[in-house]
Formats: sequence, C-alpha cells, structure tokens
Amino acid sequence: MHWVHASAFVVLLVSGLCLYLPSLAEIVGRRPLLKSIHVYTAVGWLAALVVIVVVGDRAALRRTAREIDMFDRDDRAWLARRGGAPQGRLNAGQKLNAVVTAVFALLFAVTGFFLWYGERDTRFRFAQTVLIHDWLMYVSFVLFVGHLYLSVVHPTTRHALSGITRGWVHEAWAARHHPKWAATFDVPRPTVDDDR
Ligand code: HEM
Repeated sequence: MHWVHASAFVVLLVSGLCLYLPSLAEIVGRRPLLKSIHVYTAVGWLAALVVIVVVGDRAALRRTAREIDMFDRDDRAWLARRGGAPQGRLNAGQKLNAVVTAVFALLFAVTGFFLWYGERDTRFRFAQTVLIHDWLMYVSFVLFVGHLYLSVVHPTTRHALSGITRGWVHEAWAARHHPKWAATFDVPRPTVDDDR
C-alpha cells in the first residue's frame, strides 16, 4: 500500500508540475503525452489500491486502520508536547499523516476526475476544480518533503525506514520510540541503550 501510493504520487507530482509550470512544460514540450502519463498513472494507482484491498492482506490492513483510528490520551499529549508521551506502533504524527494522506488522495481523485470529465461534458466543468487540485498539490508537496526528511534524514526517526523497506526495526529502537508497541513483544526486554 505504501509503495503503490508513494510511486504513484511521485509520477503524478512530476507530470502534474510539468502541466502546471510553463517553464517545465516548455522544457519537456510534449503536453499531450504528459497529460496521458498523468491520467493513466492516476487510473493505475486507483486500480492498484483496489487490487491490494481485494487480494492483499486484508486483516493487516484492518489492523493498521484500527491503530490509526485509535487516538488516545497519550496521542493527544504527544501532539501537545511534541513528543514525550508513550506511543504505539504508529505515533500520533504518523496517524495524522495517514489520515491527511487518505483524505487528500480522495480529493485529488474527485477533482482530477472532474478535470478530465469536464473536458468531455462542459456541465461538469467547475471554476474551482483546478484551484482545489493545485492547492492539494502545494500542501501535499510540503507534507511530502517533511515526510522524506523524517524518514531519511532526521537521526532519531530515520530508522523507521527499515520497517517500511525491510519489514523490521531494532527492538531497542522500538522500545525507546514506540514503547507501548514494544511492550507487546513476546521476547525478553532489550538492555542496549540504542537510539538508532
Ligand atoms: C487520482 C488522482 C488524480 C487524477 C485523476 C488527476 C487528474 C488530473 C487531470 C485530468 C488534470 C488536467 C490535465 C490538463 O488538462 O491539463 C490534472 C492536472 C494536474 N494535476 Fe492531477 N490528478 C490526480 C492526482 C494528482 C496528484 C497526486 C498531483 C500532485 C501531487 C497532481 C497534480 C496536478 C497538477 C499540478 C496539475 C496541473 C493543474 C493546472 O494546470 O493548474 N494531480 N490532474
């Protein structure tokens, strides 16, 4: 789910920027091709999401959705104090990011659909559609840069990249940054003072 979303987002962002910025459009010069790449990537992305939900590990998806949905007192305290309160497998920031990403995906799809359909039937051409699509792009670009910074650069959070690429993280790191989750591990507690 993560990599389908990430790869489609990058292709949609780059092709969308080439449609949006006259300087980029001039360099690339092939607007119809870029538009096709943009629209077909969107269709491929939505189809891949459906395939994941239909034939993927639905139990794991449901588990993750439940974790995101559970926003407890520790999560609120963590947000208010910017850290400090004990966190589960996903911290409060990661939960918020997941919710905003899902809402944006829906809004991108709806506005994108009307941009496409409005060209075929002018009754569905609305003045604000492109404006909303553009603003979603600005905000999601900023969030994307922040997400990249935390997952690749920031020293205490970048170890989470191992979780999404290799499927595991060091237990000592989990115990330090996600103690409520680490407390559910059925193994002896780590003793290493590891802040990776
Ligand atoms: C399901 C998702 C999406 C659909 C169906 C969709 C569809 C479209 C369509 C039909 C256009 C109009 C192309 C034209 O006539 O010039 C467009 C433009 C654009 N899209 Fe998307 N899009 C989607 C997602 C995204 C995403 C994720 C981004 C960026 C992160 C993005 C950025 C843009 C930009 C910047 C434009 C140019 C708008 C302008 O000319 O002001 N789109 N999109």
